[in-house]
Order: sequence, then C-alpha cells, then structure tokens
Amino acid sequence: MEFLFSSSKMPALFCLYINLLVNCGVAIFIMPENVTIPALIAFGDSILDQGNNNYFPTFIRANFPPYGMNFLGEKATGRFSNAKTPTDLIAEKIKVKEYVPPYLNPFIEDQDLITGVSFASSATGIDPLTAKINSAIPMMDQLQMFSSFIRKLHLLVGKVETSNILNKSLYLVSTGSDDFVDNYFTYPIRKVQYDIPSYCNYLISKASTFVQELHKLGARRVVVFGLPAIGCMPTSRTMHGGKNRSCASIYNKAAKFFNKKLSSELYSLRSKDPPVKVVFADVYSPMLDIIKNPQSYGFEIVDKGCCGTGEVEVSWMCNALSRTCSNVSKYFFWDSFHPTEKAYRIIVDNLLERYANEVLDL
Ligand SMILES: *[C@@H]1O[C@H](CO)[C@@H](O)[C@H](O)[C@H]1NC(C)=O
Ligand SMILES: *[C@@H]1O[C@H](CO)[C@@H](O)[C@H](O)[C@H]1NC(C)=O
Ligand SMILES: *[C@@H]1O[C@H](CO)[C@@H](O)[C@H](O)[C@H]1NC(C)=O
Repeated sequence: MEFLFSSSKMPALFCLYINLLVNCGVAIFIMPENVTIPALIAFGDSILDQGNNNYFPTFIRANFPPYGMNFLGEKATGRFSNAKTPTDLIAEKIKVKEYVPPYLNPFIEDQDLITGVSFASSATGIDPLTAKINSAIPMMDQLQMFSSFIRKLHLLVGKVETSNILNKSLYLVSTGSDDFVDNYFTYPIRKVQYDIPSYCNYLISKASTFVQELHKLGARRVVVFGLPAIGCMPTSRTMHGGKNRSCASIYNKAAKFFNKKLSSELYSLRSKDPPVKVVFADVYSPMLDIIKNPQSYGFEIVDKGCCGTGEVEVSWMCNALSRTCSNVSKYFFWDSFHPTEKAYRIIVDNLLERYANEVLDL
C-alpha cells in the first residue's frame, strides 16, 4: 500500500525550503481514496478523553478556562489541552469527522454516534486502583460502555451494518501514564506490593486482557499507544528532576521497560488463533525527539506548560485565575501534564506515517 503516503523523500526535501515556515518533522499522511473508515472509537485516559469526566463527580476535569482557549469558540469542553486532542486530530486525518464526542454526553445525535465516540476518562489507568484514586472510569467499565454503544448501533443501523462498522473502524487505546505518575510513584500502596518490573507485568497482563475483550466485542484495527516520556512531563521534572528540573530518569526508565514488554505482548496476541488484530504505537521516541530538539519542530519551551507557572498546574489547579503564557505556539506542553494541540499534531502525523499501513492491513 505504498500509495498511502506521499513519497517519504519528498517531504524531507520540501522541508529544506520551508523549514522556517512550518513544522517539518514528519511526512504527510494522505488517506487513500479507496479506504473508508466508518468510525473512530477511543478508550483510555486524558490523552483521548473528550469530556466524559464532565458527567460524573470527580476533581479531574478540564471544562473551565483556560482549557480550550484555542478551541472552537474558546470553549472548554473537558478536553485536556488548549484545543483539539489526538482523538479529534486522528478522526480528522482519517476523514471520519472533525470532533469526536464523549460517549457520556446525553445529546449526541445519531449520525455523530454512528461515526464514533470516546469512552476515555481522564486520570484512569489499566490498574483499577488508579481509577479509584482519581475517581475516573475504570478501563473495564469503558468496555461495558462500548457494549451499550453496540446495542444502540443495533437499533440505529441493524446488526449487519453494525458488525460492518465495528469491523472496519479504528480503535485507539491510551493507558498506563496515570498508573505510574499519579499512582505508583505518588502513593505507597502499589510500591509495597510491586517493584517496577513486576508492576509492569501486572499492568501488561491487564492491558492484554482489555485488548482481547475488545477483540471479542468485534474490534479490529486496534492501536494501543505506548507510554510517553512521562519523566519529561513538567510535573515529573518539578517533583523528581532535581534543581535543574531535568527529565526524571526513573520515570522514563519505567516507561521504556513498560513499552518493550507491552509491545512484545501485543505482538504475541497477533499470532494467536484467531489472531487479535492490534498494533503497538511508540509515542515515546517522537516525543523525546521533540523535547531534545525543540527548535527543529518550532518550539521554544519544553520543560514548562503554558498554564500558570507551568511547573505544577493541571486540571483544577489550571483555572480562570491562572496566568497563561503569551504565545502558546512556543510551548510543547499546555499544562504540567498535557501537550498543546500543536505538539499533539506533530506526534499524530508521526504516528500515522509510521503505523497507518500496518493498521489498515489488519
Ligand atoms: C471483517 O473484515 C475482514 C477483512 O476485511 C473480513 O474477512 C470479515 O469477513 C469481516 N467480518 C465482518 C463481520 O464483516
Ligand atoms: C545544573 O545545571 C548547571 C548549569 O547547566 C550544571 O552546571 C549543573 O551540573 C547541573 N546540576 C545538576 C544536578 O544536573
Ligand atoms: C508565536 O510563536 C511562534 C513559534 O515560535 C511564532 O512563529 C509566532 O510568530 C509567535 N507569534 C507571535 C504573535 O509572537
């Protein structure tokens, strides 16, 4: 399926000319004419949450300014960024739609439901304890929500069309960051039970079960994101990065170990009978490359978020009283946890370039 992308050499040359005008870290993904993806479905945490946390009691929310500062109508929707999330950006790139709604929004129109929703809940993890600590929706509960979504599709389009939609849609799964950042490294409970390698094994067996259950419900074309460089999040730098606020190496080491194990587990699922159709997507290396070479991607500040001091603020701490930076385009991070839309866009382009062929062939 070489036609999927414009030639990989061409954008690089192109970049030599316009490097100063646009971000040229990646090639340009073009959705092939003869492929249609009917819907985008997302599971996991705040990277993919479109505002589900607005609909039940929790402190982990983003439905107030300055969140959404650069979103349509400057609206704070519960997305943890200044504008779009990777859920929206990927849906747009694969020509599904511009905005993916949170499943818990009671006013979703039928056509919007049919083309996909997000079940993701900010601050959840694959460890059920993480969801409990943060009052978020556990991953396994998100699967139950998916089952109820399937029943709604049956009523709307019938069983045959439903299985066709489920078969051809793209599924995104983002989980694990909160298990480390606001569970394992923050509270003692898991630390006394597990060292880092055994906690990784515990998380990965849960993730593997999740993916297999998702497959049983009819999902193919499943993409599981690996952990980002969690040690380089501004909050990790503040807490564990020393006086210079360097990337916290113990966090990044845990993330790398987790990613290696997760990717080999997911690949082993593909050789099962019947094969579980899943791709592991490495987010860690493109993120670290941007953080190490910000200028080549058009960034100036990568160790602080745009909201508040940029060193600690996230969710309710990033609020209407927080000062925001004067130019968000200079920042990789929006708050002390989450990237800006500009950063997300670059990473999404990188992922589509590297994995779209493999996913569409599943
Ligand atoms: C799903 O797609 C695969 C390959 O594209 C095909 O072999 C299979 O029959 C499809 N199943 C359904 C239920 O549409
Ligand atoms: C912090 O940065 C300064 C200046 O770049 C350097 O001299 C010093 O060794 C660094 N300290 C640590 C603990 O990395
Ligand atoms: C904001 O920052 C970006 C990236 O450095 C730059 O291209 C742009 O000109 C800046 N905008 C203003 C208004 O300074």
